[in-house]
Amino acid sequence: MSIVLDMIETSSEIPRAQHAHIQPAGSRVRPSPSGEQAAGLRGSQTGGGREGRAPGPRSGSGNRVSDRITDDWPGYDLNLFTYPQHYYGDLEYVLIPHGIVVDRTERLAKDIMKDIGNCDIMVLCVLKGGYKFCADLVEHLKNISRNSDQFVSMKVDFIRLKSYKNDQSMGEMQIIGGNDLSTLAGKNVLIVEDVVGTGRTMKALLGSIEKYKPNMIKVASLLVKRRPRSDGFRPDYVGFEIPDLFVVGYALDYNEYFRDLNHICVINEHGKEKYRV
Ligand code: IMP
Ligand code: MG
Repeated sequence: MSIVLDMIETSSEIPRAQHAHIQPAGSRVRPSPSGEQAAGLRGSQTGGGREGRAPGPRSGSGNRVSDRITDDWPGYDLNLFTYPQHYYGDLEYVLIPHGIVVDRTERLAKDIMKDIGNCDIMVLCVLKGGYKFCADLVEHLKNISRNSDQFVSMKVDFIRLKSYKNDQSMGEMQIIGGNDLSTLAGKNVLIVEDVVGTGRTMKALLGSIEKYKPNMIKVASLLVKRRPRSDGFRPDYVGFEIPDLFVVGYALDYNEYFRDLNHICVINEHGKEKYRV
């Protein structure tokens, strides 16, 4: 596994009911193996079955709010929303609309503040896919800090990783760049990532950072995939657990395309062919 490093220094509540039950008229119908297609989002870390119950506040690092988008969730018809014309014909459906991503991120910020507020943190944004999530998360953290008794003093760094070609993990992570991870020694580090798939990327990154003995490392990932061959890596903060699908949008790319799409969408075969390298 080759690792090249690059750091660029710069100084929930889910609207479950709405999301779960909007079934757009004339939307595509996909098979529903379990007959639960309307559920869409379900509690995951509380053993499922939370739907219908208002999710109450949680605390403690072992009880993160995470929400599972079930395998039979049909998504939203693309015609319900706007998206760039140059992607017409390249997408299957909207998995998570942009507004829900932002709302969920706000809740994650609240959870993070509850756990690690009142201290200095170094937010480490994993580029490129993590830039939207990181920007929104930092914005929410700042707002909470400004409008409550809790404060957090933040610096933001960026690290660039590359591990996928087309829709396949290359099994070889490139952390592009240098040795500046040593600046994380003794710091409280919050790694902000777009999606954990196999978990290999995050494990490699954590291995590289831990060598420098930071005081604390937490990982926030907007998405985690349910994969049969996952190595079981679970971030401390998870926006949504999703089916094992290749998703794009909200800065997540397919060979650098689709970062300019707001919603998190599932790419179709036509899109994969069109942008394959
Ligand atoms: P992992 O090593 O399989 O966990 O993959 C993690 C990295 O691969 C993420 O940081 C993403 O940049 C990229 N990745 C994994 N799955 C997807 C996806 O569905 N869409 C876009 N990028 C992905
Ligand atoms: Mg990433």
